[in-house]
Amino acid sequence: MVEYSLSPAAITDGLATRFIGQEVSCYPSLPSTNDVAKRRAQEGAKEGTVIVAEEQTAGRGRIKRRWLSPRGSIALSIILYPPLAYLPSLIMVASLAVARSIEQVTGLKAKIKWPNDVLVNYKKICGILVESNVRGDKVDYAVIGIGINVNIKLSEFPQIAPMATSLSRELGRDVPRREVIRSLLAEAEKLYLALAAGDSVFRQWRDNLVTLGKKVQVSSGEATYSGIAESVASDGSLLLRQPDGSLLKIVAGDVTLRR
Ligand code: BTN
Repeated sequence: MVEYSLSPAAITDGLATRFIGQEVSCYPSLPSTNDVAKRRAQEGAKEGTVIVAEEQTAGRGRIKRRWLSPRGSIALSIILYPPLAYLPSLIMVASLAVARSIEQVTGLKAKIKWPNDVLVNYKKICGILVESNVRGDKVDYAVIGIGINVNIKLSEFPQIAPMATSLSRELGRDVPRREVIRSLLAEAEKLYLALAAGDSVFRQWRDNLVTLGKKVQVSSGEATYSGIAESVASDGSLLLRQPDGSLLKIVAGDVTLRR
């Protein structure tokens, strides 16, 4: 199947959302969609504006890592102006929306590795980078950056091949990126609007975490901890039961599952 370049109309036509994805800009190549989204937010872009790139030349990951975004993958950023209280939940909204869109479009089961990697068959298929600017108790903007390995051959990227997968690799065929993006934007809006109604998004995110109950190693800053990933708190922190019986709350870090 040949898939042509993504266009704003292909994404927005008939998209059943109120604001997320109603304004879309598509670029053949960008250093990082998050950078363009931040600039557009500072210029007052409408809430829900989406920036899409066919490829990124300097894609960024969490913890100052690089993110590979070759052609055939999805790289996009969503601009939001949330209240401060919503900020910790944006990773939950984004990871759940990605997992649901993968399941809806491909039928593959997608799970979340704390805090917000999406896995298929225990391999990473999506990374999410939320960046925001906060002044006092006001969020100037938040940008949700999402990268999904859709139609990419992992054999061409030996540096990530052992721990990553792509939709085309899992299915043995290419997947229409347009359908994944449209489903993702619709799910993201439903979940974002649901944040006003209490903790249901938190509970759904927690119930989709592949991490809980598992033996894990967590690197956080310079430190590394191991133990059982017992639970998560509503602010998204991981609660790690350490070998000495104590419970450690980890706000940010990177988990390795010890299967
Ligand atoms: C991670 O797993 O470390 C997060 C990766 C986030 C990648 C996305 S792709 C779209 C957006 N633009 C970027 O430069 N990064 C995010």
